[in-house]
Amino acid sequence: MTKKTIIVSNRLPVTVSRNADQGITFKPSSGGLATGLSTTYKQGGNLWIGWPGTSGHSDEEKEHITKKLKKDNMAPVFLTREDVDKFYEGYSNKTLWPLFHYFTEYAIYEMDLWESYIHVNELFRDAILAVAEPEDKIWVHDYQLLLLPGMLREALPNATIGFFQHIPFPSYEIFRLLPWRKETLEGMLGSDLIGFHTYDDMRHFLSSVNRIVGYDSSLGHLKVKNRLVSVDAFPMGIDYDKFEQAADSEKTKQKVIAYGDLLSKNKSILSIDRLDYSKGIKHRLIAFDKFLSKYPEYQGQVSLILLVVPSRDQVDQYQHLKEEIDTLVGKINGKYTRMNWSPIHYFYRSFSFEGLSALYKASSVALVTPLRDGMNLVCKEFVASKTDQQGVLILSEMAGAAKELSESILINPNDENQIVEALYTALTMPEEEQRSRMKEMQKKVRRYNVHRWVEIFMNQLDNIIERQTAMNMR
Ligand code: G6P
Repeated sequence: MTKKTIIVSNRLPVTVSRNADQGITFKPSSGGLATGLSTTYKQGGNLWIGWPGTSGHSDEEKEHITKKLKKDNMAPVFLTREDVDKFYEGYSNKTLWPLFHYFTEYAIYEMDLWESYIHVNELFRDAILAVAEPEDKIWVHDYQLLLLPGMLREALPNATIGFFQHIPFPSYEIFRLLPWRKETLEGMLGSDLIGFHTYDDMRHFLSSVNRIVGYDSSLGHLKVKNRLVSVDAFPMGIDYDKFEQAADSEKTKQKVIAYGDLLSKNKSILSIDRLDYSKGIKHRLIAFDKFLSKYPEYQGQVSLILLVVPSRDQVDQYQHLKEEIDTLVGKINGKYTRMNWSPIHYFYRSFSFEGLSALYKASSVALVTPLRDGMNLVCKEFVASKTDQQGVLILSEMAGAAKELSESILINPNDENQIVEALYTALTMPEEEQRSRMKEMQKKVRRYNVHRWVEIFMNQLDNIIERQTAMNMR
């Protein structure tokens, strides 16, 4: 029997919703991971296992969803409303997310959330065991499923298990605050290969492994009981060609025309994020206010296009943040707006792909200033969309992408004055300098695209299995 590859992530690459008129609808995701892995999971007997994004389905609905997904090589893990509450909104997004992004004051530690996290990781394990053969290749993604590799290793000792963490791995001093730190590391160590976006994340992980569970590493290899576990950095990329081609497409041109004054009249500074406190949206707004006040000649000349994509809106911190952003935008617009100009164009919704492409293509500056971010793909999408190489990227040092995009204007997101000066530098940067910086960044983003990322991770997973075999470890 040939081995198959099973991709596992909390969300499936499709969102299922319940709609009053149309019943159950299926919307494919255009996200980076979905694009990068689409050729993998759609092949032969391969498949993608994950949560369809809803809860409370009847048995009949579940059957319908399962059948429909099966046709596209997907299998659902259904969650109850309580699971969504405690596992997804709870432990994943009120404990791990804030802690791993260094928002220690937001992280809560509650036993019933932890128990729900174990329970849902078990649901994922059972869904995998229902279809997996003993030697299949299983690639688990992200912080919602940290225990899954360990659970799978117990049930399928000969499986090939890869794990990739899409968010930062914090330093030991932060990670050790987690009451379930040992169980978490043991879960991750069920993998054969563990990947992070950056060497710093990898270093932090290895240091926690050493200090909490006592395994030493040598050149990214750990000996865990009688197994070899490899740990490495794999900076994730984007589908470069898709953004590059879209930037010069007719559809994008039409969008730019449709957006009219928004993009053509003034220079625009672009800000795009999911609504999240880790993204530094408030700091960015305060810095923009300071910029308009320090350089009043830009009033009436430059606008901030602030696109905030709704996210995790059942979690308190996200609701508060939304209110704070609304207030700040209102304050700044109230302070500077003129009859024929507004400083901020604020959108609280998601945009179509063509809409995003038009914004990337036509903006002068991208302001990407997360307080902490595993990678950040928005900055890479902006770079790929700048086919005329005109445009400036201002990027936070705290984003994983800063390690690659050193030709951007790098800033510390906590330093508002530095953001103010970076905006001034960006808006006055000579065309030739914009071109030379953009060209260098494009080379890197084009080369290390999402397809290369998948290929490198998968190859390394094969290599580690060969190495284990040569060392009589399997
Ligand atoms: C980040 C995480 C992903 C997550 C995504 C959207 O990128 O790394 O695992 O899927 O945010 O968040 P959501 O809570 O809507 O799945």
